[in-house]
Amino acid sequence: MSVRVVIGTQWGDEGKGKIVDYLCKDVDLVVRFQGGSNAGHTVKIGKKVYRFHLLPSGVIRGKIGVIANGVVVDPEVLIDEIERLRSENIEPKLMVSDRANVVMIYHKLLDGAEEEYLGRKRIGTTRRGIGPCYSDKVARRGIRVGDLLDEDVLREKMELILPVKRELMKVYGVDFDLDIEDLTRRYLEYGEKIREFVKDTSYELNKAVREGKEILLEGAQGVMLDVDFGTYPYTTSSNTVAGNACTGSGISPRYIDEIIGVVKSYTTRVGGGPFPTELRDDIGKHLQMKGGEFGTTTGRARRCGWLDLVVVRHACTICGIDGLALTKLDVLDGLRKVKICVGYEYGGEVLDRFPSDLRILENLKPVYEEFDGWRMTKKARTFEDLPKEARDYVRFIEEFLEIPINIISVGAEREETITL
Ligand code: IMP
Repeated sequence: MSVRVVIGTQWGDEGKGKIVDYLCKDVDLVVRFQGGSNAGHTVKIGKKVYRFHLLPSGVIRGKIGVIANGVVVDPEVLIDEIERLRSENIEPKLMVSDRANVVMIYHKLLDGAEEEYLGRKRIGTTRRGIGPCYSDKVARRGIRVGDLLDEDVLREKMELILPVKRELMKVYGVDFDLDIEDLTRRYLEYGEKIREFVKDTSYELNKAVREGKEILLEGAQGVMLDVDFGTYPYTTSSNTVAGNACTGSGISPRYIDEIIGVVKSYTTRVGGGPFPTELRDDIGKHLQMKGGEFGTTTGRARRCGWLDLVVVRHACTICGIDGLALTKLDVLDGLRKVKICVGYEYGGEVLDRFPSDLRILENLKPVYEEFDGWRMTKKARTFEDLPKEARDYVRFIEEFLEIPINIISVGAEREETITL
């Protein structure tokens, strides 16, 4: 048996979907433990491309998907994804935690309203209601999945919460005339549609651990979007670090066997906030086009830049990463030179760790190591098949981080993967 965690080590979009899909082969349960429908997983199987926001990617492969307590669940999205799978004759094996908080319509409206209010200082959220929902969870004003199954409980909560939300909407100048009765009915209907999946997932997961099942905990977003360790406030509203795999699922740290970090061979980020190695030139554009760097959730173009190992080391330290999966190496194919950031120059010093101060982050200068480019990695199926320059690039990353790279991805297809 083993319990493994997969974490994104940058700003999300590292290609975790493909890696989780690859690792899923021998897994019994795939678990999401944080985030919500702000995430976007793209999995390509044959000619078919599957895009999900809430369902764990393993569900397409017939694995048991678990949406655990740490996730914020938008029932509209969940029902839509279940129906999409059913229309392809895939009956999802799914468990949704009764403790997970529900993303309500007012959370989505407030997400948009807060962004408008922030103007130039906006976070650039996905507007999926994530921040307002987690805020309510922590303020103990949340509606949980279990509440959708009980009319009295839901109505009582709505009566308490909605008048306050109405006032808040007025502050933001948003028209909000949703009726308590209508909303209660709407969410009870959602509850009925997902009732069969609602479980005490922490109980089920601990039973699975005792029975020696293979469990994969699938992180969403990346460490630099973690609300504590990322580029706050330009982060998401959950903890994306490995530690939250335990809190967000109810599995004790005692049972985690392996933590895998996913690193994209360059860096991207969507939305606002500091990005030290961002390239606003032709190379950045090239990475964006060749890497297909457009958001799965919002369609926004992702900002692109060189690989930043100060970022990745920060993520690996906090998460205790055991091994790495390096993705999208093929996107660097054909460049004459490639660079890796190994430190930050600021105030006449070279910083070797990721600062928390936004003013420093916005004014530092990355220190780069330069490498010769290579022609093609896409066809490589073993490490030795890679051009020497690409091997040097990979080895440098390993040596710098002192963590082995166990998987290299050179394309979106499952077979375009090298294991070491
Ligand atoms: P929120 O999670 O929608 O509140 O957005 C907060 C920040 O996290 C924004 O910069 C988003 O673009 C970013 N973000 C949220 N989810 C993802 C993701 O799955 N990939 C990349 N960025 C994300």
